[in-house]
Amino acid sequence: AARLFAAGPLAGRRVLITAGPTREYLDPVRFISNPSTGKMGLALAEAARALGARVTVVLGPVGEVDRSGLEVVDVVSAEDMAREVLARVEEVDCFIASAAVSDWKPQTREAQKVKKSEGPETLTLVRTPDVLAEASRRVSGRARRPVLVGFAAETQRVVEYAREKLERKGLDAIVANDVTAPGAGFGVDTNRVTVLTRDGQQRELSGTKREVARTILELVGNLLPK
Ligand code: CTP
Ligand code: CA
Repeated sequence: AARLFAAGPLAGRRVLITAGPTREYLDPVRFISNPSTGKMGLALAEAARALGARVTVVLGPVGEVDRSGLEVVDVVSAEDMAREVLARVEEVDCFIASAAVSDWKPQTREAQKVKKSEGPETLTLVRTPDVLAEASRRVSGRARRPVLVGFAAETQRVVEYAREKLERKGLDAIVANDVTAPGAGFGVDTNRVTVLTRDGQQRELSGTKREVARTILELVGNLLPK
């Protein structure tokens, strides 16, 4: 049965989450992407829902996933994701960017399949929009702006690079992820992360993505204005 009144520490709160990869097509059958499966983002969505929040997930292409209790907006490219996030970010209490957004796309997208005999030997790439940075810019200076949480996928100098992203993108917190560490990264069910907050706090979390997600949402709950 539908729950008319959700209970829990995030009851009445709206949470927006990006999850999964994006695809940047060069022609109808070829694209640039990455191995993200959306597991961490969907675990965050489920944790937010369990704590009573109304959750919208802007989800890149990940195949079959459990969508129960979530509003899911399916997107393909970074540009699609930016458009759907910017249409919603001003209305939410918290935005969590867990998507692995492609940083580049092919400069041109051919309408027809390119024959290999005519294919480009080199591909010219251009930058995609930074969804999180644009969302942050959109709400900056607002009296009641959403709590902004990013992820940082790193392979070295993890905490240092993550702290830099927190500052540069104007975030309240960032979840630093060494994607090459054992028990972390793309596709696996566990994660080891360090959560950094704007006020300089630092906390290590490890466990299943579900457990880690729960703790991240509890920390987010503490950052929300009463
Ligand atoms: N992000 C985004 N849009 C992009 C790129 C990144 O919203 N085009 C978000 C990610 O969802 C994540 C954060 O920004 O929350 C950091 O992503 P990451 O790839 O670690 O950092 P980048 O800023 O893209 O820098 P780089 O890949 O060069 O380390
Ligand atoms: Ca990136």
